[in-house]
Amino acid sequence: MFQALKPVATQAFDAAFGYEPQRWVQAPGRVNLIGEHTDYNDGFVLPCAINFGTVIAASARTDTTVRVVAADYRGEVDVFRLDQDILPLAEGTWPNYVRGVVKYLQAHGLALQGADLALSGDVPQGAGLSSSASLEVAVAQAFKTLQGWDGLSPTDMALIAQRAENRFVGCNCGIMDQLVSARGEAGSALLIDCRSHDTRAVPLPPDVAVMIVHSRVRRGLVGSEYNIRRQQCEAAAQHYGVRALRDLSLARLEADAGDLDATVLRRARHIVTENQRTLDAAAVLAAGDLRQMGVLMAASHVSMRDDFEITHPAVDELVEILQTAIGESGGARMTGGGFGGCAVALLPMAHVAAVRRAVEKNYRSPTGEVGTVYVCQASAGAGQVA
Ligand code: GLA
Repeated sequence: MFQALKPVATQAFDAAFGYEPQRWVQAPGRVNLIGEHTDYNDGFVLPCAINFGTVIAASARTDTTVRVVAADYRGEVDVFRLDQDILPLAEGTWPNYVRGVVKYLQAHGLALQGADLALSGDVPQGAGLSSSASLEVAVAQAFKTLQGWDGLSPTDMALIAQRAENRFVGCNCGIMDQLVSARGEAGSALLIDCRSHDTRAVPLPPDVAVMIVHSRVRRGLVGSEYNIRRQQCEAAAQHYGVRALRDLSLARLEADAGDLDATVLRRARHIVTENQRTLDAAAVLAAGDLRQMGVLMAASHVSMRDDFEITHPAVDELVEILQTAIGESGGARMTGGGFGGCAVALLPMAHVAAVRRAVEKNYRSPTGEVGTVYVCQASAGAGQVA
């Protein structure tokens, strides 16, 4: 990603500000292999950072002004001041991700100097691959690098980015996307305990491909339905008297269901079973057992489809096509928040061409589009670009 994005960001910087940037930083998007909607239930997730992300060309300023140019938005520029209250612009615009992170870097107690920043990214938007987390973490990394804050840990950056997303952008997401963008490891997935924020790198077998297929179904409903799922999970935790669904066993889920609403019960069952599948997946992946990984991914998809009800008929069909083409050599499932977006597949490199052909031949979105296939590398988290 850096090779292609760095010159784009540099050129946008030069065109907007008329001088050369001092530093370049990057932060990746992510794909989640398993563990969906478990993060805000204090549970486990197993994502990897991908080689699609955001690069920022940056220079420090001596005053309190921040100027930001977006190379991918026709060179649009946003300007704001650090000594004035930082407010969001009209909903959904890119400057809010930058403004929000800057505001919460300040709220973290960091003394910020102004900066000139040029952004360029290649994470497909609206695909569930965390283009926004990639941008947020890259902004935090840019200020960390410019100001030499060695004490600001990757986990701090992730928490600040999540705060910006929750409180400034208004999306009530968990910690997964920002944490893996900040802490991803090349060649590995990251098992994250979303309560303690402990992480363990789970190396992917060397001959395994991480394939992502965009269903071309744009994620609708995602904000409202996401928040409904969160409320249902909280209601279930309250019913069982646990701090979060992470603390509920399958035995108790069934034994103490009582008069719990049937829908809420199914939501809770997804979380409880998905947490266990995620822990199991980390173990089988570390052992290189792709066949068993496939079994777990298939069960995760069924649980998302029937219990959590976050898939989409077109995505169900895409996952079936992938599973049929991959057979017992790996697995596939929907990935991300849901209601459209992408499927992720793990499969031997040697099968990539055949599986790609199966998708091209058999899958069409409801509006007749072919799925877009990305073959990714598990990548390192945020850092400087040489
Ligand atoms: C979105 C959120 C994450 C996580 C996933 C579902 O990507 O940003 O925090 O909840 O959905 O697993």
